[in-house]
Amino acid sequence: MHVIRLTASGLRRFDSASIDPAPGLNLITGDNGAGKTSLLEALHLMAYGRSFRGRVRDGLVRTGAEAVEVFVEWREGAEARHRRAGLRHTGQTWVGRLDGQNVSQLGELCAALAVVSFEPGSHALVTGGGEPRRRFVDWGLFHVEPGFLPLWRRYARALKQRNALLKSGAGGPQLDAWDHELVETGEPMTRHRQHYLEQLQTRLLAVAGDLVPALGASSIEFQPGWRSSELSLADALLLARDRDRGVGYTTVGPHRADWRIDYAGHPHRESLSRGQAKLSALSALLAQAEDYAQRRGEWPIVALDDLASELDRNHQRRVLQRLVGSGAQVFVTGTESPSALTELEVAPTWFHVEHGLIQLR
Ligand SMILES: Nc1ncnc2c1ncn2[C@@H]1O[C@H](COP(=O)(O)OP(=O)(O)OP(=O)(O)O)[C@@H](O)[C@H]1O
Ligand SMILES: [Mg+2]
Repeated sequence: MHVIRLTASGLRRFDSASIDPAPGLNLITGDNGAGKTSLLEALHLMAYGRSFRGRVRDGLVRTGAEAVEVFVEWREGAEARHRRAGLRHTGQTWVGRLDGQNVSQLGELCAALAVVSFEPGSHALVTGGGEPRRRFVDWGLFHVEPGFLPLWRRYARALKQRNALLKSGAGGPQLDAWDHELVETGEPMTRHRQHYLEQLQTRLLAVAGDLVPALGASSIEFQPGWRSSELSLADALLLARDRDRGVGYTTVGPHRADWRIDYAGHPHRESLSRGQAKLSALSALLAQAEDYAQRRGEWPIVALDDLASELDRNHQRRVLQRLVGSGAQVFVTGTESPSALTELEVAPTWFHVEHGLIQLR
């Protein structure tokens, strides 16, 4: 799929902004604070319902504006079907449209437009807490496994109810019903996650071997969120019940799932340099995008914010080499054009952002 028009208003420093990107490589340059990242945030917002820099209410809406509004038009599929989506978000409330119809859940927009974003905070996928890693797996499953989203929704709802009961100090019988629902949904959710990571492993290790061979990424280890080799989820929930009552939330289960890449060359993840962590994260994201492309027959949109920050020239070239000619629409931002592009003799579609204006170069 590829975006043919991205329009935003009330987005950070932009009163309004619009670009008509090309199917292949799109470069967005400009000085610090010009608004390059903001454009990718607009795309990310449509695809995830939030920015990669946080929630909408954390500054995405231009100071003094009521809401941020984003419109995306794109083409997808063998017939290059024309699709369009709009989202107006105040930080509290939102209204969304997809192909001329109102949407009732943000998830409908997220399911329609697939964007893989890599940005300066992406090292958190390797060195941060579990949440971005769960989101990573679940994003993949939302798009390639139709049965996953309904399970995920039911699980999330049951977890909320169980936590509310735990807080209120409710008794066993009420908890039983929600434990049952958590098990019914959490067990198959976990099998999906396990299977997804198992089949992603080969691809991820191959990409990591290409981008950061020195780390010797050797395997992916999945942790389901409870001691699943010893206990069923039902038993784990029952066993944790007293503790859960004490703390007022559910301490075990798939909402605590995690996974990690093991490195033969680096037994301690903490000792990875920032650039190495980023390249590892990027390997995971690119592997996921490739997997999506293989299973869905077309690439998701790949957005690389500030590629040059912390990646040396050689690594930038390897990344771009993988993507150029893959068929993916790629967005790259930077204060300057990455020198790797000259080396690769690629001429991107080039947008320059200055004083709140975007110009084609
Ligand atoms: N809510 C807001 N209202 C108005 N302006 C904002 C708001 N949030 C951020 N800005 C401004 O918008 C700009 C944000 O731009 P953005 O982060 O997209 O820049 P960038 O081109 O990616 O810069 P860098 O090269 O530093 O990454 C900054 O100038 C910032 O001060
Ligand atoms: Mg930026």
